[in-house]
Amino acid sequence: MLNDRTQMDGARVLLCVCGGIAAYKAIEVLRSLQRAGCTVRVASTEGALHFVGRATWEGLTHTPLATDLFDYAGSAIPHVENAGWADAVLVMPATANMMAKMAYGLADDLVSATLLAVPAATPVIVAPAMNVHMWQAPATQANVATLMERGVQLVMPVSGRLACDDVGEGKLAPVEVIADAVLKAVREAVAGETGSATNAGATSLAGVRVLITAGPTHEAIDPVRYIANASSGKMGFAIAEEAAHRGAEVTLVSGPTSMAAPEGVKRVDVVSAAQMHDAAVAAFADADVAICAAAVADYTPRVVADHKLKKAHERLDMIELVETADILAELSATKLAGGKRRVVVGFAAETNDLALNAQAKLERKGCDLIVANDVSRADSGFGRDTNRVSFVSIDGTEDLPTLTKREVAGRLLDRVAELL
Ligand code: CTP
Repeated sequence: MLNDRTQMDGARVLLCVCGGIAAYKAIEVLRSLQRAGCTVRVASTEGALHFVGRATWEGLTHTPLATDLFDYAGSAIPHVENAGWADAVLVMPATANMMAKMAYGLADDLVSATLLAVPAATPVIVAPAMNVHMWQAPATQANVATLMERGVQLVMPVSGRLACDDVGEGKLAPVEVIADAVLKAVREAVAGETGSATNAGATSLAGVRVLITAGPTHEAIDPVRYIANASSGKMGFAIAEEAAHRGAEVTLVSGPTSMAAPEGVKRVDVVSAAQMHDAAVAAFADADVAICAAAVADYTPRVVADHKLKKAHERLDMIELVETADILAELSATKLAGGKRRVVVGFAAETNDLALNAQAKLERKGCDLIVANDVSRADSGFGRDTNRVSFVSIDGTEDLPTLTKREVAGRLLDRVAELL
């Protein structure tokens, strides 16, 4: 838990409670924010009062609770007043209905009208909880994507047994993860207003040259076939985007992906592991940091046939493979060359024994940090918008909650800035 009282004292958080069984967990988050020094106001939907009553919120906040647009509890225009008052707004448990209203800009009750009235610079954190099918419904997922695109911070639900007895995604994230997300957002918002350097946003990597590898590689077997993997490139592209946003000079060496290059990033397109190796080694000569997020093929066919192999009389089941050059290990081995101290970060996509495998990879590859992710999880890994990772270094392991890939990128770049 973040508990820096001096920074949090007086920070104003508006807690918007929606009608779901997890509403009772909003009490714990409220108490946690108050313990950290925040002043919390609550806005509740009428539905949410079925789960947690008025007396609880009024007792905990010592403030009259407004639930209706025309119930002027303490304010003539409660939605505008509350929205303007807050340093950060938390919506929990965010129902599918409330996220749909947010996505469409509907304002037909006190909470949705308040959310529409929140000034653009105020961070909004949304922690959904609902039945697995409601969560996975294309409409909900589209609304979540819309909100994220607009800068709303999603604290993603986790998998587990749900109140309806279904098992799957939709369980509210742990309360401490939600409280941490709010405190972090408040700190950044307050630091942004005062120009403090703790708002890493635009400046923390100014002038730093960052090389990033991303995406899969394709290893040709013949003119029409190749060996590949399921990497989408999303994680590497998110790091490139966040690093550029923080002022870094970014070179993104990308394998074949459908993703567009983030603005302000120098993109070098490659296809094979050998091409990625050559491009990365060349770019590393001028870099301060290398982040190897690519899923590089470990093996490539020894010879590439110059014609399409015919299965009837050519051995497609006996393709001889040779190991590719390990780009991460090679960059790590040269990171001290020329009297420079460069930071090298690798990724470890694992399906089992995550911590053990990542620790072994850190030593074997000789890098400064490994970002380990369990690609067997539903909320993590290839093609997903979220990732659940651990940072593994010689100082130990830091386990992160499920975050968007952009948030993981931010946390990673915070660590890189420390290492620099
Ligand atoms: N990597 C690389 N060049 C390669 C293979 C991997 O730079 N030829 C990098 C990846 O970009 C990633 C890290 O090494 O940062 C881990 O890759 P991974 O494939 O998980 O490691 P391996 O060495 O292949 O280990 P294993 O197959 O035993 O898991």
